[in-house]
Amino acid sequence: MAISVRDEGAVRFVRIDRPEKKNALTLAMYEALTDALKGAQTNEACRVVVLEGHPGVFTAGNDIGDFMQNPPTGQDSAVFRFLLALVDFEKPIVAAIDGPAVGVGTTLLLHCDIVLASSRAKFSMPFVNLGLVPEGASSLLLPQIAGRATANYWLLTGEPFDAESALRAGLVSHVFAPEALEANVRRIAEGLAKKPAEALRLSKQLLRGPQRAAVREALAREGELFIARLSAPETIEAFTAFMTRR
Ligand code: COA
Repeated sequence: MAISVRDEGAVRFVRIDRPEKKNALTLAMYEALTDALKGAQTNEACRVVVLEGHPGVFTAGNDIGDFMQNPPTGQDSAVFRFLLALVDFEKPIVAAIDGPAVGVGTTLLLHCDIVLASSRAKFSMPFVNLGLVPEGASSLLLPQIAGRATANYWLLTGEPFDAESALRAGLVSHVFAPEALEANVRRIAEGLAKKPAEALRLSKQLLRGPQRAAVREALAREGELFIARLSAPETIEAFTAFMTRR
């Protein structure tokens, strides 16, 4: 299974674990991520989730071959169930980004509570370049976080941006040297895990709750267009170009 889960004390580490394919996410991996989150939600011993990739890669986003073979067909598809599980998750999520975070690899961060990056993190949302539209409620949340000018630029050009830009835009809270990322992620996650759990839960609810309905609406709005675009000729051409590149 390309998602590995390990519990260390009160911290659940959920690792995207398919480095040979740059951690590209398949339908089965979204399902495993959803299970890991739902399990963490109901397990009282778990206080915090860390979402991480491998040294040098967070995720190359959705697996393009899988997109062609197993495209999402509606709001009950694996990728949407994962995004909804993230939106509904009540405990703190710490995300650790080292290397590329493409597509949903960047937009899912909008639903994590503390995002820590290494100086070699590289973010991109190349939806338009692939014939697609923004997902993960990024059309709603990114302008709020980064400001309209930056959100428009990132979402319309699909141009990659580095950790310092992500820090300036408020997408990440700290940037560490690559060799220092893991220890700092652990320090921050373990620190959170020692705090009063109910106070954390209520604080997260205050931070996220007021917008939850709007986020769900954005997910549905984007999802409908995204699914329709998956079969557009220009999207199929872009996917085929990636899959057959030399
Ligand atoms: N879907 C399917 N396979 C992917 C993938 C993806 N999104 N991203 C990478 N891979 C595969 C490559 O096909 C390659 O497989 P191979 O060794 O069998 O040929 C392997 O992972 C390594 O990728 P490679 O491109 O050689 O690594 P890189 O370090 O040069 O570049 C990325 C890394 C992430 C910048 C680059 O792979 C990339 O741009 N991927 C596509 C990202 C994307 O468009 N995602 C969809 C967003 S909606």
